[in-house]
Amino acid sequence: SSPLFLSRLSSFDHVDWQSILNDIATDIQPYLAKGKVASYIPALANVDPHQFGIAFTDIRGNTYKAGPSADTPFSIQSISKVFALVMALDLEGEALWKKVGREPSGGRFNSIVQLESEQGRPRNPFINAGAIAVTNSIQQHYCSGSDSNNKEDDKKLYTRQYTHKTSPDEYNSIAINKILDFLKTCAQTDQDIRIDPEVARSEALFGDRNRALAYFMRSYGVVQGDIGQTLHTYFHQCALEMSVTTLSKAGLFLAAAGQNPLAEDDGAMLVTSHDHVDRVNSLMMLCGHYDMSGDFAFRVGLAGKSGVGGGILAVVPDVGTLAVWSPRLNKAGNSYAGTLALEWFSGRTGVNLF
Ligand code: DON
Repeated sequence: SSPLFLSRLSSFDHVDWQSILNDIATDIQPYLAKGKVASYIPALANVDPHQFGIAFTDIRGNTYKAGPSADTPFSIQSISKVFALVMALDLEGEALWKKVGREPSGGRFNSIVQLESEQGRPRNPFINAGAIAVTNSIQQHYCSGSDSNNKEDDKKLYTRQYTHKTSPDEYNSIAINKILDFLKTCAQTDQDIRIDPEVARSEALFGDRNRALAYFMRSYGVVQGDIGQTLHTYFHQCALEMSVTTLSKAGLFLAAAGQNPLAEDDGAMLVTSHDHVDRVNSLMMLCGHYDMSGDFAFRVGLAGKSGVGGGILAVVPDVGTLAVWSPRLNKAGNSYAGTLALEWFSGRTGVNLF
C-alpha cells in the first residue's frame, strides 16, 4: 500500500491538540445557549440542547476529545451524505455527475425551486435533492432486482402510500445496511454506530418535502426505479447515530488520501481513491453548509459538512479529521456553537487551509 502523507502532520508536532480541545470546550460554554434546535421532527426537537462535544483524530490514528458530550451518540443527519457520496462515486464513477451537479445552491437544504429550471438535476450532492439522487444510485446498484421502471409496480407503490398501509417491513434494507456497514468499516467499530429507528420513523412521517423532491426528479428521469424504496433508505441514512469521537474516526480517510489509518492489516486499508477524496472535500468546502457555505469557508477555512442534528465533520487534509456536536442551529441549519468551535480550532492551531 502507498505511504501515508505524514509530513504535513509532522509540521504540527508542536501543537498540543488535547489542550486546545479542552480550552475550546471551556470557552464555548457561554455560546451553547445561541441558536435553535431542529424542530421539524419530534425525535430531534426533544434532544437536550445544552450539549457539546468535540473530537479530533489525526492520520496516525490518535484520537483526542473534549466536552461532556464527546461520547454521546447523536443523529448525524446530513453528514451521512458525505459517506453516501463516496459510495456512489465508487459504484458509479463519473456517470454520477449526470444526475447531480457540483455547484453551490445558494438556497436552503430542502429547496425545490432550482429543480424546475434545471431539468430536475440537483445543484450538488449535499442539498436534499442531490443526496436523494445519490442514495437512488446506491439503491439501484444493490437492489436492482426489486427496483423497476415498471408502471404496474409504480401503481402499487402509489396505492400503498395513499392508503397509508406502508409498513417499513415492506421495504428491503440491503442498501441501508451497506451504508451502515461502510460507516462501521471506516470507523473500525461494530458497536458504536447504529440507526435510530425512532428518528427514521419520524423522517418518514414528516418526509413529504423529500418525497416531493424525489418524485419531481423522477419526472425528469434524473432518478429511477422504486422511489419509495430510495426514500426509505434516505430516511434511515439520515437517522444514523454516533458520537463525535466515532465520527472523527469514520471520516478519517477524507484526511488520509482515501486510506484508513485505523485499519489493522499491514499498511493502511484503502477506503476510496485519492481522487474521490479530493473531489468530496472540494464539494464539502463549497456546498457543505448550504447557504452558509461561504461563511463557513471564510471563518473556518476547512472542508466541512453539517447535519441538522447539530453535528459537523471537518477535514484537515493530511493532518486529521474533526467532529463537533452541539444541537442548537443557526438560521441555515448548521450548529451555532459547533461552527464557532471549529473557527477557534482552525485559528488556534493554524490548520486553516489558506
Ligand atoms: O432530509 C431532511 O430533511 C433531514 N433529514 C435533514 C437533513 C439535514 O441534516 C439537513 N441539514 N442541515
